[in-house]
Amino acid sequence: MPRHDKRKAQGAIALLKAQHEEVKELFKQFEKAEGRKRKEIADAAIQGLKVHASIEEELFYPALRKAMKGDGGVMDEADEEHHVAKVLIAELELMDGKEDNFEAKFTVLAENVRHHIKEEEGEMFPQAAKTRVDFVALGERMRERAESLLIEGFPEGVEVEMVHKTGLREASPAKLAEATIEIPMLSGRRR
Ligand SMILES: [Fe+2]
Ligand SMILES: [Fe+2]
Repeated sequence: MPRHDKRKAQGAIALLKAQHEEVKELFKQFEKAEGRKRKEIADAAIQGLKVHASIEEELFYPALRKAMKGDGGVMDEADEEHHVAKVLIAELELMDGKEDNFEAKFTVLAENVRHHIKEEEGEMFPQAAKTRVDFVALGERMRERAESLLIEGFPEGVEVEMVHKTGLREASPAKLAEATIEIPMLSGRRR
């Protein structure tokens, strides 16, 4: 590999893409697994996502925002997608995996993240590659930060605070309404 390509391959975008592949692999494993194993896979995916989101939010996203002045559309959407994922993660972290809605909640997180990854790789990263940011140097800082997060723990975001304030929802509004709804039924025999 030429020296230039080698440097590029170790850069920030390559690091983020490698983390995307790891988490997508865990999502696939979750679909095939059962019981205790599912919870273990979910925990591993959540840990990976927390590291990933933190280094994006602390270093990669702000660097891009600064370098791509005036082109906030893709960055603003990414922020909102991170917010939704972090709410779901904060809820999943309060669960032990035996809850009726654990699987559904993790599946929605996986769908949200898969969509987000598509937008990052399809729109954000190509735009980023056109900037003059030194992604090799930035990638090194991101790698260091990822390591220190695993040792020191994660800063608590507003989503954790939100979820802890309300706690986990016992039953969905639809499940509660099922007890009292009078359903309009068709008369006559079923066709
Ligand atoms: Fe992201
Ligand atoms: Fe990402």
